[in-house]
Amino acid sequence: MKRIGILTRDCAGINACIRAVVRTASFYNIEVVGIFRGYEGLIRGETKVLTRRSVSGIISLGGSILKTARCKAFFTSQGQLRAVKTLKENNIEGLIVIGGNGSLRGAYLLFEEYGIPVVGVPATIDNDVNGVDLAIGADTAVNVALDALDKIRDTATSLERIFVVEVMGRDCGWLALEVGLAGGCEEVLVPERDFDISKMCEEITEGNVKGKRSWIIIVAEGKARAADIANKITEITGLETRVVVLGHIQRGGSPTRTDRILAAQLGSYAVEILKRGEKGVCVVQKEGILSTIPLREAVKPKEIKVDNYYRLIKILM
Ligand code: F6P
Repeated sequence: MKRIGILTRDCAGINACIRAVVRTASFYNIEVVGIFRGYEGLIRGETKVLTRRSVSGIISLGGSILKTARCKAFFTSQGQLRAVKTLKENNIEGLIVIGGNGSLRGAYLLFEEYGIPVVGVPATIDNDVNGVDLAIGADTAVNVALDALDKIRDTATSLERIFVVEVMGRDCGWLALEVGLAGGCEEVLVPERDFDISKMCEEITEGNVKGKRSWIIIVAEGKARAADIANKITEITGLETRVVVLGHIQRGGSPTRTDRILAAQLGSYAVEILKRGEKGVCVVQKEGILSTIPLREAVKPKEIKVDNYYRLIKILM
């Protein structure tokens, strides 16, 4: 194997992963072609050879030096054929795709429909890749959200207010549950669990009478809008609420130690796997051991153990 390609989404740890891919490949005298702007750049042929030096100094940077884009054209067979053409024209013998559910779906399609040797690396703040305990970027996102939450708590406690905080996660409640548990929040609303707003408002009203006036409620973006929940709480309880939408700050920032180590291990292992001739797989780390799962499995919906989180959140509130 002489040349491989690399294409990414963006989140903390992806640059550390690009670095690991490029330097491991260089160790084996394999050249790495960086594909800019994700599948959009693959279709347009936006490529550049990455050397050991071109990835120096990026280990601590958030985002992706390769940039990224949402790409509608890749959903068409015309777009897919152009993407395959770029790979052929650049003599790319294997492709590493670093990203979440959407990126890995694209990787699976290239492998399944066009026979491209692809290896996926899970990297997403949503942590919604099936069969993967922790995706690159997820740990940083939780810590970034916690940092913001601790600051919100200062005001929530001092003013004895109810705050409704919306976090990202697409259709998955993992980020909300982690933030809710680690942040000591009173309630977490996630897509995977039914929720009774009247019951929560009863609890808030009862607590208010007993002197518990400050609440922090986490809402996963896939469940509801924080503003709607806050309005409803005020309508039912008559209490004042404030809304914070954390938004894209959760996807940025310098990667944590956990994300850097994971990025180094998974990025390097992805090169080893391609070199070995394995394809159509996603690299994973379970209990410290590196292995692969079929991309076919990785793109299936992920089940979160919501009840375990939720029980503890309610016991500790
Ligand atoms: O998949 C990562 C993610 O940040 C989701 O949590 C969120 O729903 C989405 O991307 C936001 O996408 P965009 O940056 O295109 O608005």
